[in-house]
Amino acid sequence: MSDRHILTAVAWPYANGPRHIGHVSGFGVPSDVFSRYHRMAGDRVLMVSGTDEHGTPITVAADAEGVSPREIADRNNRLIVGDLQALGLSYDLFTRTTTVNHAQVSQEIFLGLLKNGYVFPQTTLGAISPSTGRTLPDRYIEGTCPICGYDGARGDQCDNCGNQLDPTDLINPVSRINGETPRFVESEHYFLDLPAFSRALGDWLATRKSWRPNVLNFSRNLLEDLKPRSYTRDIDWGVPVPLDGWRDRPDKRIYVWFDAVVGYLSASIEWARRSGDPEAWRQWWQTPDSDAYYFMGKDNIVFHAEIWPAQLLGYDGEGDRGGSPGSLGRLNLPTEVVSSEFLTMEGRKFSSSRQVVIYVRDFLARYDADALRYFVAVAGPESQDTDFTWAEFLRRNNDELVAGWGNLVNRTVSMAAKNVGAVPTPGELTDADRALLQATSSAFTPIGDLLARNRQKAAATEAMRVVGEANKYLSDQAPWKLKEDPARRDTVLHTALQAISDCNALLTPFLPHSAQKVHELLGGTGVWSPAPRIEEVTDLDDGSPYPVITGDYGDAQAVWASRPLPSGTPLSPPTPVFRKLDDSVVEEELRRLEGEE
Ligand code: MF3
Ligand code: ZN
Repeated sequence: MSDRHILTAVAWPYANGPRHIGHVSGFGVPSDVFSRYHRMAGDRVLMVSGTDEHGTPITVAADAEGVSPREIADRNNRLIVGDLQALGLSYDLFTRTTTVNHAQVSQEIFLGLLKNGYVFPQTTLGAISPSTGRTLPDRYIEGTCPICGYDGARGDQCDNCGNQLDPTDLINPVSRINGETPRFVESEHYFLDLPAFSRALGDWLATRKSWRPNVLNFSRNLLEDLKPRSYTRDIDWGVPVPLDGWRDRPDKRIYVWFDAVVGYLSASIEWARRSGDPEAWRQWWQTPDSDAYYFMGKDNIVFHAEIWPAQLLGYDGEGDRGGSPGSLGRLNLPTEVVSSEFLTMEGRKFSSSRQVVIYVRDFLARYDADALRYFVAVAGPESQDTDFTWAEFLRRNNDELVAGWGNLVNRTVSMAAKNVGAVPTPGELTDADRALLQATSSAFTPIGDLLARNRQKAAATEAMRVVGEANKYLSDQAPWKLKEDPARRDTVLHTALQAISDCNALLTPFLPHSAQKVHELLGGTGVWSPAPRIEEVTDLDDGSPYPVITGDYGDAQAVWASRPLPSGTPLSPPTPVFRKLDDSVVEEELRRLEGEE
């Protein structure tokens, strides 16, 4: 074990509905591939996230169904936990933002910022209903988006262009309750003084060299237009504002985005509290040589490259107004904001309302998690917008996973099992044998390097190229023609099995489920690539029950290195590692997408 601590901070999915494959291709698969690689390399990974349960996305869903926000959050939290676990995402803790711990930590950050002078009160215009005189929460105000012209924009955000808005930004605002035009009256809010971080954010970004260029450029451009941002909102669902005269007000809460990003810290603290060492989180947040990687889709960059770093800098006392760290102590800034671009579906934007969608659960009911993980890794939206098509999914699955990798494993293990019943003992190696073993064992360093830099597409492609070399070796050496020369046959089979063992390690971050299977087909026992599990827990402070994702990832056998495969290990005839998909799947899925089924 190295002593390098790596925080994998994964964007928190909204609990306003099930997640589709576009969502998990942005934050899910990339963060898990990264974490699994680092664990294999011996680093101490802490991977945290949870459901994002506050804000208008949840209250709008609750209103639509006539149930409480908590009911919506509870239901979707459970669904999302099930989906992410089934995908094999190896969170150390996947929790939620409605815990008491999360509220406390969010309030602590707010108070630390206030103490250092980075949060200040200001009177702005808030909407009230002229007929009742009551406050109109942001979500009840609708109008035309000033940025894209979309008609159904809400007072907090435009769902069409994704921009965050204030109710006063809307053109022709109307109340969704009764259609009347709201009256804007003075309303008190707290603001985060973003301009006070312009220098500190600039200095920090100047030291960030290895980010994806589009993410870094986007983040640097944000600095040109820093304005104070409202830390509180007119809403009745969220973390209460921790100040006398505010705490008990039903109509004021901390803005959902400002509590959600604190989730990385609160989840780390919750994980530590549950681990039996409540201070353990500090190793990931406070030691200078620990690193923090944040994973998300590109619509989240603002909050991770500007707002969250500003909150951290202000809490640490490192903006223009100075100050000193709050009671938690000084907190580390992100090492890298790793953002994906968007995935589209058969040429169209994902849209739950227009049914251009495939939910993770429906996908996994019909196909294997590793097939989706592989597609996302090798053909996902890593650094440009990318289209998911069923034809391409089928082709990648059948040609690359089944015919390329799975077939190599199956025919080799099957020949060895049939002829020897075990991993054969090799004789003297030829140049061809040595060349293959050299190719597979020397692949760990360059592929590991790509994975550490989050060039996952290149890493997956390179790993599959090595698989291709092993396939070519097997065809060239044709051990099935060596009946008369069992010694040579055994040497070839041993060499191929060793290459397979190496390739399996190289592919483990992408394909944890099939890697476990291949490990067993090679005669291995025990856990090779650990699966996350769902655990029912109770809130550490108020006892309410909820499910979390967690796991024991520390004692898995998978390591990022070539390990000699012991001769004599018993082998049984293999079952297929991957499922071949019938061509009819494409048409069937396209029909589903058109709503004919
Ligand atoms: N809920 C947001 C989304 O789905 C992501 C929040 S990331 C967080 O786009 F860190 F802020 F929680
Ligand atoms: Zn818009």
